[in-house]
Amino acid sequence: MVQAPHLRLGVNIDHVATIRNARGGRHPDPVRAAKLAVASGADGITAHLREDRRHIRDEDITRLKAEIGKPLNFEMAATDDMIAIAVRTRPHAACLVPERRAERTTEGGLDVVGQRGVVEHAVRTLGAAGIRVSLFIAADREQVEAAHAVGAPVIEIHTGAWCEALAAGDADVAAREFERIRIATACANFLGLEVHAGHGLDYASAETIAALPEIVELNIGHFLIGEAVYVGLDNAIRTMRGAMDRGRQNAKAA
Ligand code: PXP
Repeated sequence: MVQAPHLRLGVNIDHVATIRNARGGRHPDPVRAAKLAVASGADGITAHLREDRRHIRDEDITRLKAEIGKPLNFEMAATDDMIAIAVRTRPHAACLVPERRAERTTEGGLDVVGQRGVVEHAVRTLGAAGIRVSLFIAADREQVEAAHAVGAPVIEIHTGAWCEALAAGDADVAAREFERIRIATACANFLGLEVHAGHGLDYASAETIAALPEIVELNIGHFLIGEAVYVGLDNAIRTMRGAMDRGRQNAKAA
């Protein structure tokens, strides 16, 4: 059996900033958390600079780029303001996400089919600045094909619907959602896109999805920061790494 590629873990540190901002001031510092995450085995750090700056702030992004020794994945809306910040900061990667002010988190995938012009402009501008662009999309074949058509080298599949069904104990919906992820992943791989996945993952779901060999990166935040309250960030990340490695052993290379 051919070995599936290494599955990278991107740790999203947004919610360290959420806690800091609840009181103002500097503690806890998301950059310190990012450094600890790297020391604990994270392959990269993800941070979302939202338009309302509800968690990560501009200076966090500057410090993350300067201070962490691993790739920075900058999550952003495809707006001119965010594109300008990305081009100035030059993160390793940028993940384009849809953004609505009223949402609690990134609730759905980017509508690449419906917003083709805007997305294509962002992909081209960021790509020209040497930033590797990924599009955060639902596990939907049309969106995968549109991502390919606008020239994005990478997609990140939104795993939220699957994780919600698992959490609700709805096995039928969960099975259906997982099948959608599997098909979208295979389709993207066929088109030559690099595939990432994320949103709502915990130890069990990360272990399950790690068995899909086309996926090369998982981006995980909320669960890890929540677990850190009980066991510490280092322990939570190492346990997640173990779950991903166990799942990966079940992957048959495509
Ligand atoms: N990937 C993307 C593109 C996201 O927007 C988020 C949430 O900010 C995540 C991954 C991580 O999701 P969670 O915090 O639920 O693990």
